[in-house]
Amino acid sequence: MTGMVEKGIIIRHEKMGPDIWRMVISLPLTAKKAKPGQFIHVKINDNSRLLRRPISIAGTAPGKGLVEILYRVVGSGTQLMSEMKEGDTIDCLGPLGTSFTIPEEGEILGVGGGVGIAPILFTARRAKPGQMTVVIGGRNKDEVFWKDLFPKTLKQLIVTTDDGSYGIKGFTVSVLPDVMKQGTVRQVAVCGPGIMMKKTAEIAGEYGVPCEVSLERRMGCGTGTCMACVCDRKAGGHYKVCSDGPVFDAAEVVL
Ligand SMILES: Cc1cc2nc3c(=O)[nH]c(=O)nc-3n(C[C@H](O)[C@H](O)[C@H](O)COP(=O)(O)OP(=O)(O)OC[C@H]3O[C@@H](n4cnc5c(N)ncnc54)[C@H](O)[C@@H]3O)c2cc1C
Ligand code: FES
Repeated sequence: MTGMVEKGIIIRHEKMGPDIWRMVISLPLTAKKAKPGQFIHVKINDNSRLLRRPISIAGTAPGKGLVEILYRVVGSGTQLMSEMKEGDTIDCLGPLGTSFTIPEEGEILGVGGGVGIAPILFTARRAKPGQMTVVIGGRNKDEVFWKDLFPKTLKQLIVTTDDGSYGIKGFTVSVLPDVMKQGTVRQVAVCGPGIMMKKTAEIAGEYGVPCEVSLERRMGCGTGTCMACVCDRKAGGHYKVCSDGPVFDAAEVVL
């Protein structure tokens, strides 16, 4: 999928936590097509920055033509994004990449860490009521604003913080065996730090449950032509994260 360029008006732009911003953009075509796990490639309004920045879609309102993203300021590109104002125009290429599987029936376990929570949030918003259990982790209580964005119709929402200042102290993976032991999970979706995805995939594997991971790589074109974003295939060779992913079957990629 190569996506399309849409120039959208920023409808809402607010700071949610330390360095984390939420932006709602009017992008009717993208909103109509986007699936959970896909991303938009955002052009920064500075001619010296030629490359776009990939940001996961956190939700859509297709009827209103809106796309929501959440991003952390980590460098100059995201810093410039954070300085944009409501009413400004932003150039987005999307929706790009593969998406998470939402089975017709059966429970999904979504696991998200840091800004990797964004595609899990979109998945939860598309899942049926009661179909999804979500485990999210952040550094401390300043990052638990995410929990309020999830639909109230989840089967369960578990929050962990590294320092124990909110929810369960520890990392997301520490609570996964208890969830998996219940025997109801049919599909696992995970996005976050590499070690978290690797351990989540291992735990899912122990219970014989398929697991999809959303990989993060620095990107150039975002559409499969420049090879900037490769990851290793278990079977040998490479995948392009932008076009073969970012969502992969955990059994097919080296984590
Ligand atoms: C498919 C995909 C979805 C993403 N979704 C989100 C999201 O929803 N929210 C969000 O906040 N971020 C997301 N990211 C990461 C985001 O693209 C980068 O943080 C952003 O491009 C950094 O741009 P910058 O100019 O601010 O930083 P730069 O100045 O380019 O870099 C600053 C620091 O961030 C690191 N970095 C930059 N880009 C990436 C990257 N793609 N992956 C890993 N490290 C990187 C650099 O190595 C450097 O240490 C996603 C990345 C991918 C590949
Ligand atoms: S970013 Fe160019 S091939 Fe993936």
